[in-house]
Amino acid sequence: QTGAFTFDPGFTSTAACESAITYIDGDVGVLLYRGYPIDALAEHSSFMEVAYLLLNGELPTPKEDAQFTHLITRHTMIHEQLAQFYRGFRRDAHPMAIMCGIVGAMAAFYHDSTDIHDPQQRVIASHRLIAKMPTLAAMAYKYSIGQPFIYPDNSLSFSGNFLRMTFGVPAEPYVVDPVIENAMEKLLILQADHEQNASTSTVRLAGSSGANPFACISAGIACLWGPAHGGANEAALNMLRQIGTPDRIPEFIARAKNKDDPFRLMGFGHRVYKNYDPRAKVMQKVADEVLTSLGLTDPIFQVARELEQIALNDPYFIDKKLYPNVDFYSGVVMSAIGFPTSMFTVLFAIARTVGWISQWNEMIGDPEQKIGRPRQLYTGPAQRAFVPLAERV
Ligand code: SDX
Repeated sequence: QTGAFTFDPGFTSTAACESAITYIDGDVGVLLYRGYPIDALAEHSSFMEVAYLLLNGELPTPKEDAQFTHLITRHTMIHEQLAQFYRGFRRDAHPMAIMCGIVGAMAAFYHDSTDIHDPQQRVIASHRLIAKMPTLAAMAYKYSIGQPFIYPDNSLSFSGNFLRMTFGVPAEPYVVDPVIENAMEKLLILQADHEQNASTSTVRLAGSSGANPFACISAGIACLWGPAHGGANEAALNMLRQIGTPDRIPEFIARAKNKDDPFRLMGFGHRVYKNYDPRAKVMQKVADEVLTSLGLTDPIFQVARELEQIALNDPYFIDKKLYPNVDFYSGVVMSAIGFPTSMFTVLFAIARTVGWISQWNEMIGDPEQKIGRPRQLYTGPAQRAFVPLAERV
């Protein structure tokens, strides 16, 4: 009890919400999307199948898959005036800064899908966001390198279309490399949803106030940007580059263990996983495949492998249950595909938009849903009398 305020000593943090979308067992290292193991989905599904699953609760039949894919591809283009926004940014603006702005600005264009009480408008907004994220992301990259925007080509897969808009140029045909396309599909599937992580909770809290879906996803993008969250893939690759060679690993391991040093092994540890992140295992295999197929012998992959082995056998990391997470290898894959580190979290946002909007729909569709209102444990002064300025010494 502090001063005038009496606390309920039983006050404990309760579950943020009920959800039927994603299940995680952090102690065992299990991740299920609507009951399906993440490794099976990554191995055998397309990103569109997984998007359908997360949104609707069941894997699509071939007919449903074709219909859903058609519905999504109808929204891949953006309003031509929205493209004008890019010209207002500096060329060296971080693409995540652009994505925060441009996705929020969608609410200024797509007025026929902002009424959250209209189920049909919720569906259209969901499809628009899933479909337009790759287009907007590719445009952010093109703008940063001074190349012209490439319009979507709906005859390509979700990933193939994104790769072409990002790396294609009007001067010559772009051929989608199936190895890279497959790696991109897995990258998107592995990062599509992850229960009530910080950015998903941000989307839910923003949505609980009745804010339109574009504003909610923009808030999620802002939260994902943090280096402790989705920004860790960019930070992990920068860390591997900073280490440079395997012989410098012990120096960085020592820093990560030093409580007085703010340095942490980026791509290691997790709020929930106290075992190996199942996504990291698949991502490591994808990294292997891409580097082998492209004949790349990127030294940072060697550094990543050796760092992982040293950390996994170090008593400090074992004791604190620190394992590689999804961001440890995803940066290696994205770098091998040709993305600059500044685009890594943007790719994460493209994938996670499916999870964000699925969780948003689940919440908005619940008639019992109320505005979120986290409480606090007050630790400030008890009530006290006001002293006018003239009397303060
Ligand atoms: C993502 O929530 C999600 O689901 C997120 C995500 C998703 O898909 O949405 O999975 C995506 O964000 C993955 C996490 C990416 N972030 C990083 O890789 C950044 C590096 N990791 C750390 O910042 C950290 O591990 C966190 C932020 C992820 C978790 O931090 P916590 O909650 O402090 O971790 P913990 O409680 O398990 O830490 C236990 C101990 C602590 O030391 P003590 O207080 O016990 O002395 O381990 C230490 C931590 O300081 N520790 C680390 C460490 N991570 C935790 N020490 C060195 N290097 C690390 N990476």
